[in-house]
Amino acid sequence: MCLGTSDDDYMFVKGTVYDVHCHPVHGASVEVWQADKTGLYYHDRCRVQFTADRQGKFSFVTTLPGKYLLGYYYRPAHIHYRVTAPGYREVVTQLYFTHDDSLGANDPCDTCNSGSAELIMDVRAPTADDLVQIAQLVTFPVNKVVEFNPVMGH
Ligand SMILES: [Fe+2]
Repeated sequence: MCLGTSDDDYMFVKGTVYDVHCHPVHGASVEVWQADKTGLYYHDRCRVQFTADRQGKFSFVTTLPGKYLLGYYYRPAHIHYRVTAPGYREVVTQLYFTHDDSLGANDPCDTCNSGSAELIMDVRAPTADDLVQIAQLVTFPVNKVVEFNPVMGH
């Protein structure tokens, strides 16, 4: 989603939806949305809904979200998640990235939990297995991977 030009910075985002007992939640609905690389939101792009597969897995390729001003300060780069499944409480959360100087106390959003370690993920280089999965999605190079696993409670 959120594709721009071929020289943009892209990342492969993968995840598994789990319940609190670490069992995958197959068929969960995963809605993600983010700002584009310049920090702007749109109604009709940079927003996608996926259905997790039988192992609770889902993945997508997107541009790195840009930061945007909230008041006088920049929010950390993030991707919004809304995860729903029958019998579970809705999860609304945000994925953040390590080495962002707007996280935590520097985030102008007081209720966004950007200092929470379970929401801040490392960005790494793709493994051989990642490259196979990426090639099934897009034909252009993707050199960053981030993994984030939403957890659903009842
Ligand atoms: Fe946002």
